[in-house]
Amino acid sequence: MELARFLHGSADARTAGQTLTHGRAYEAFGNVLFGGRRRQVFTRLARLSGARPGDRALDVGCGTGYLTLCVADAVTPAGSVLGIDPSPDVLTHARRRADRRPHCTFADGIAENLPGPDGGYDVVVSSLMIHHLPEHVRARSVAEMHRVLRPGGRLLLADFRPPANPVARHLIGAVTGPVMEHNPVHLLEPLVRDAGFTQIETGDLHPWIHHVRATKPGRPE
Ligand SMILES: C[S@@+](CC[C@H](N)C(=O)[O-])C[C@H]1O[C@@H](n2cnc3c(N)ncnc32)[C@H](O)[C@@H]1O
Repeated sequence: MELARFLHGSADARTAGQTLTHGRAYEAFGNVLFGGRRRQVFTRLARLSGARPGDRALDVGCGTGYLTLCVADAVTPAGSVLGIDPSPDVLTHARRRADRRPHCTFADGIAENLPGPDGGYDVVVSSLMIHHLPEHVRARSVAEMHRVLRPGGRLLLADFRPPANPVARHLIGAVTGPVMEHNPVHLLEPLVRDAGFTQIETGDLHPWIHHVRATKPGRPE
């Protein structure tokens, strides 16, 4: 199916992950998927990330920049947020959206090999990206998030929680493909724990989001 193909089907040579190629269509799909609650859900995610004015934040697999801009609002003034994604098309869309916000920038990059030195960020966020990665790459990408966070820095991961109702789940699968239908979000927490994070909390946001937040142990230098 065409929608499933462009949501999860176009590979970038640098990553085993599946990149998006249609920024505008993804935007329309995102608005429909959240049924009018997208702003509310992503504002809440930005709040859960603990991003504060002055923080340096990174959004991994930022897509069209929806969460990136919510985090940008949280870190201003004096802070900054960088959104990274391997898809040029979604980055174009994100840059347009962030017009006139110099503290909100976007760059090409992949989760398995994040830009920036060890400890360069106060906050790392990532929404709806992990299910784009094959399972064998997920631990590596969370380890990278751990590496680029400073001691005491905070992580917020959010991903698609398939509906419990089997009919609704099947419908999601028919439209978006098997990745979202069977997304094992319960594995996010052990992934984060195994990467060395502590103070781990999990939760759900209506309608489709499971989130995990955690802290990199240690004191800020
Ligand atoms: C479903 S979209 C989510 C976008 C955005 N975070 C949001 O919440 O709307 C998943 C994004 O992950 C990106 N992606 C796929 N493989 C990736 C990788 N290896 N590293 C970083 N991003 C990746 C895709 O290009 C796509 O933009």
